[in-house]
Amino acid sequence: MCGIVAYLGRRQAWPILIKGLQRLEYRGYDSAGVALLENNFLKVYKKKGKVEELVQSASLSDREGTQGIGHTRWATHGAPDDNNAHPHISQDRRLALVHNGIIENYALLKKALEKEGHYFSGETDTEVLVHFIEEIQNRDDLSLEEAVRIALTRVTGAYAIVVMDRNEPGKLVAARKASPLVIGLGDGEYFLASDATPIIEYTNRVIYLNDEEIAVVTLADGPQVRTMNNEEQTPFIQVLDMEIEQLEKGGFDHFMLKEIYEQPGTIADCMRGRLNVEQGWVRLGGLDDYLNRVVQARRIIIAACGTSWHSALIGEYLIEDLARIPVEVEYASELRYRNPIISEEDVVIAISQSGETADTLAAIELAREKGALVYGIVNVVGSSIARLTHCGSYIHAGPEIGVASTKAFTGQVTLLALMALTLAHRRGTITESYFRRLVLELSEIPQKVAKVLESNAKIEYIAGEIKDRSNALYLGRGYNFPVALEGALKLKEISYIHAEGYPAAEMKHGPIALIDENMPVIVIATNKSAYDKIVSNIQEVKARKGMVVAVVVEGDEVISGMADYVIEIPNTEEPFTPLLSVIPLQLLSYHIALMRGCNVDQPRNLAKSVTVE
Ligand code: AGP
Ligand code: GLU
Repeated sequence: MCGIVAYLGRRQAWPILIKGLQRLEYRGYDSAGVALLENNFLKVYKKKGKVEELVQSASLSDREGTQGIGHTRWATHGAPDDNNAHPHISQDRRLALVHNGIIENYALLKKALEKEGHYFSGETDTEVLVHFIEEIQNRDDLSLEEAVRIALTRVTGAYAIVVMDRNEPGKLVAARKASPLVIGLGDGEYFLASDATPIIEYTNRVIYLNDEEIAVVTLADGPQVRTMNNEEQTPFIQVLDMEIEQLEKGGFDHFMLKEIYEQPGTIADCMRGRLNVEQGWVRLGGLDDYLNRVVQARRIIIAACGTSWHSALIGEYLIEDLARIPVEVEYASELRYRNPIISEEDVVIAISQSGETADTLAAIELAREKGALVYGIVNVVGSSIARLTHCGSYIHAGPEIGVASTKAFTGQVTLLALMALTLAHRRGTITESYFRRLVLELSEIPQKVAKVLESNAKIEYIAGEIKDRSNALYLGRGYNFPVALEGALKLKEISYIHAEGYPAAEMKHGPIALIDENMPVIVIATNKSAYDKIVSNIQEVKARKGMVVAVVVEGDEVISGMADYVIEIPNTEEPFTPLLSVIPLQLLSYHIALMRGCNVDQPRNLAKSVTVE
């Protein structure tokens, strides 16, 4: 939540900051703002709404300056209006600050500062922080970095901040705790951002700031990194291999559509070098050194949120089915607050696209404290979760910009399938011939996904039949139950149609009461194991005049004869069905949202990276 960007160099900062904010807009779009520093003069531009609105509103003003900070907001404290937009400035208009996160003790600090004569124009916790730094700085006539350091030792909560001081031009001070911050090292110029996407077109050399570190970036010395206790650090410079094209729409109307269509490639990328059909092996480099510990785990706990939680559920089915290790799936936000039983004999898998989800990070910390081995399944390279876990694997899906997760989901499921196969093989819980069949089948999934994508026109037609409904029910059994949950989440996230996912057989225990001619029911009916039962579930819906859209395996005649609309997917081994059956549901929600005039890539109230609790 919230995107931060900052620039210090010789070029004009405004265009770099605006472009950076546009790249980060997926993180929040309640308001946007920029502060520029030129000749000891601080200029602040802020606007409610998208970055484009900021650009329009500032079009006639002076936007000169070779140093600046920018922000795109996902509001936590205070309405999303011009006033609460970042950057926030200190009372004496000397400091400007952008912040991602939450200052939890802001109310107490605010009261104390008001007593000292501070006046606040808005309701954000961030405004309190910049006044607090100012108060500390002025009281003892401190340098900016020292004032920031002392202030941060007295606040609780999560933050990534960048601050600049009118009286100290040529310097940016940045700090982080539980919210990400990357520093890009250009040639005599520096870029700071919440992730590498605004940086990559200028330089691929970056430093990921660690938790509780402060960086002082000056034109003369570049970044100097210290801990909150003022100990000097030698930062690790990482060279990124991200391509700028990955951040563009590449001819598609929306990032979400592009990302749906990328899946044959991203699933293949996830498997690359990790599976060999001819020699019959599967190998996850990230697991190698810890394989014994995972194989002997008393229990595996998978913690995640949202879509990643849905892939975690599929992970449970895969690992229990194939490797016979007990698995529990937890919402990360619940796990951390419910005093769970976790011990050294457990392995915790944390799944996250962004690698920055605050709840998942907190669950990892808890698991580590309790002595469990923590394995991360992450997309964003170098993200906080990737660094906090003991070991892990990247899904290699490339940047996912659409707020609704698509290719990251199939990447996570692919990774979990590779993991289940590795564990099953080592434990001898499946026969060699079944193992080989599964390996072959998994390797063929990318072509089969491409085949599903060919049904796009048909799915668009079906979307037209659903677009005006107010509710929808998604049903699936076994491996397809989490897919039903994911289909429903996709629909509600981007089209704002209320949707529920249910295990098909649970329908009769309640949701069946909702079914009438106005209720579309999307049934994922590709299971071989419970086929007849699904057929009965469809009959139950039809008997109550519900409209049935069924996802079936090619050549299915029984359900095709019953359902109002049918979408076919290629046949595969049952454990891998979700990788195919989720694709039509992604496309369905995309088209419905588009037909309803919704902002597909940036749905209301959501943000891509949820770095607050
Ligand atoms: C997915 O479409 C969502 N926008 C959301 O549920 C997301 O999956 C969740 O916030 C978890 O994010 P993460 O994978 O980056 O941790
Ligand atoms: N708490 C700050 C605000 O509401 C930052 C929010 C965030 O990072 O999501 O403006």
